[in-house]
Amino acid sequence: MEEGKDPTAITVSKPNQSRVLPPRLIQLLFLFLVLCFSISLVLVYMIRKTEVTTTLASSIPILQTCVEEQPKTDLDHWIKPPSTLLHTMSDEELLWRASFVPQLKNYPFTRVPKIAFMFLTKGPLPLAPLWERFFKGHEGLYSIYIHSLPSYEAKFSHKSVFYKRQIPSQVAQWGRMSMCDAERRLLANALLDISNEYFVLVSESCIPLYNFTLTYHYISNSTYSFMGAFDDPSPVGRGRYNRNMSPEVNISQWRKGSQWFELHRNLASLIVSDTTYYPKFEAFCRPACYVDEHYFPTMLTIQAPGMIANRSLTWVDWSRGGPHPATFGKSDVTEEFMKKLHGIQNCVYNGEPASICHLFARKFSPGSLESLMLLAPKYLGY
Ligand SMILES: *[C@@H]1O[C@H](CO)[C@@H](O)[C@H](O)[C@H]1NC(C)=O
Ligand SMILES: *[C@@H]1O[C@H](CO)[C@@H](O)[C@H](O)[C@H]1NC(C)=O
Ligand SMILES: *[C@@H]1O[C@H](CO)[C@@H](O)[C@H](O)[C@H]1NC(C)=O
Ligand SMILES: *[C@@H]1O[C@H](CO)[C@@H](O)[C@H](O)[C@H]1NC(C)=O
Repeated sequence: MEEGKDPTAITVSKPNQSRVLPPRLIQLLFLFLVLCFSISLVLVYMIRKTEVTTTLASSIPILQTCVEEQPKTDLDHWIKPPSTLLHTMSDEELLWRASFVPQLKNYPFTRVPKIAFMFLTKGPLPLAPLWERFFKGHEGLYSIYIHSLPSYEAKFSHKSVFYKRQIPSQVAQWGRMSMCDAERRLLANALLDISNEYFVLVSESCIPLYNFTLTYHYISNSTYSFMGAFDDPSPVGRGRYNRNMSPEVNISQWRKGSQWFELHRNLASLIVSDTTYYPKFEAFCRPACYVDEHYFPTMLTIQAPGMIANRSLTWVDWSRGGPHPATFGKSDVTEEFMKKLHGIQNCVYNGEPASICHLFARKFSPGSLESLMLLAPKYLGY
């Protein structure tokens, strides 16, 4: 029988106590009241003094409305990242907001530059456990943004680094302007956090090739942003150029490149605030043109040629031929293969020949996760 349901319990009466409380008990009660009062005083003081309110605000909606009603008069209001990624801005409003750039280059507060990892995916992130391990212990140096199909409902636990990192999204199709729109949307959302200094676009089939520390240093020490851009004279390169794009874009400026980029903040700003090239690409780079392979490389080649390395940080294997790069599955991920991933060289880093050329690789199937988890500590260093 359950506790408390014992019928005999009802009949048990309290022992007959005296009606008048003894003076000792009154004293104790009084002391207790005084204690309660002083504790609440101290609490109120602490809440005002420290920023407990802001951390509480995210979990207690009632408190949040109180906080929001207060006038925003200090600098925090301008430098704190939004408390939630879910906003109600349209793309037009978002791009406008994200195009704000401070004119003073010295920050009047301590700013630790972060890397924004922007995941472009249809839905799930099958390699999430690998990424979780990569990020572990580096809180404060990265932030995460996920663009998936609007209909997709993510199911990350509140302990996951991916929890509530979805941004308001729209359907994006390969080769279409909607893909560039998705990338600009990711950049714009990430630009709203003023501590984000580097912006990496990755997909659900990408993996990091080195530990976080090396990745962070490699990106932050680089003079250049990493955007693949090359002049391809073939029909699938210059052949996709349309004369109607001139005079904004002429054929000698036309570039091709992979969409998996790493951009410094100044170039991310350029992309979200572009109103010169976007309409040209939207109107004259129609489906057979594959606009997502040309818009960013061409635009940055015209606007900031001295700031891009013209190569991507993401390795992909085209050696098997065909229109799609190789996808690596469970049986491909061997010790031999993992060693090979670090051996791909022949590139320039800050003007010098470098031994590390790629920080990320694709494409890895969901089935490869188990082998990757097993081999990553020894071969990838995380
Ligand atoms: C990260 O990797 C580099 C090179 O693989 C290694 O030298 C370094 O010790 C690693 N750092 C950490 C914190 O594991
Ligand atoms: C980048 O700079 C940091 C600190 O300035 C240094 O410790 C690190 O070795 C550098 N890393 C690379 C990859 O150049
Ligand atoms: C394209 O632009 C470049 C640089 O502005 C210029 O030198 C070149 O003459 C132009 N070519 C054409 C075909 O207009
Ligand atoms: C990238 O290409 C542009 C021309 O397309 C060039 O001006 C620039 O110097 C190149 N960047 C590097 C790092 O070589």
